[in-house]
Amino acid sequence: MSSRRLQQIIPSVATLDGAGVSLRRSLGSVPNARVDPFLMLDEFSSDDPDDYIAGFPSHPHRGFETVTYMLDGHMLHEDHLGNRGDLLPGGAQWMTAGRGIIHSEMPQQESGRLRGFQLWINLPAAEKMKPASYCDIRPEQIPTVVLPSGGEARVIAGSIAVGDREVAGPVQGITTEPLYIDVHLPAGGRFVQALADGHSAFVYAYEGKLAIGAEGESRDLPAQSAGVLGGEGPIEVRAADGPAHFLLLAARPLGEPVAQYGPFVMNTREEIEQAVADYRANRLT
Ligand code: CO
Repeated sequence: MSSRRLQQIIPSVATLDGAGVSLRRSLGSVPNARVDPFLMLDEFSSDDPDDYIAGFPSHPHRGFETVTYMLDGHMLHEDHLGNRGDLLPGGAQWMTAGRGIIHSEMPQQESGRLRGFQLWINLPAAEKMKPASYCDIRPEQIPTVVLPSGGEARVIAGSIAVGDREVAGPVQGITTEPLYIDVHLPAGGRFVQALADGHSAFVYAYEGKLAIGAEGESRDLPAQSAGVLGGEGPIEVRAADGPAHFLLLAARPLGEPVAQYGPFVMNTREEIEQAVADYRANRLT
């Protein structure tokens, strides 16, 4: 069976967000640099507190989900529903903005490394106005599995087959059936995983270079770039030049129009205008 090929490379670009946090944005960096239903992927990684200390003070969202996955450092999430989530290394938070949420994400450290990712996943039209919800995922809730071909994978959402068993992450039951895994490969290590037919998929290499595709017909993905996969079948990845760390994301595409204005992602311009009006009138949530 043929495997998926690396169809498009979306390099990350340095940008600022929140109150002045330095980050690298791949998906979402330019219009249409999306992989339906994934809207945006930011990587933040710095040892310099000036790059992150300002954090992400109180701000709104409507119409999609935000997923934060932390590698190093400590952030505190607070929202208008009264949730407080301590985001620790190896932990994650899955927030469904639905019709509206107002939250903040603030670093809880004045020195040392802060490193992690924020991913935005779109919601189908029928769920954009559902009530907001929040799920705090502690590091020990995310299974880490040793891969038969070397290396390891952490499963945040969906499930993967490892040998003859299935390893399921803590996040399940979402309409677009997202798969979110973090894979670490040793130099020369290889990772092969079946992906659901018709699901879109991309890889984000955050350390080291990857070769994607079957041996002999693979294409390289440089570090700090998102690689959009084309075709069908499993994904096949090799650590092409030393050890490699990457995220693999896959989900069922929505195939709906996307209207985005900052932190609001709806289907039409009228719905965006409604979101802005609701926020100004204090009735977003
Ligand atoms: Co936010």
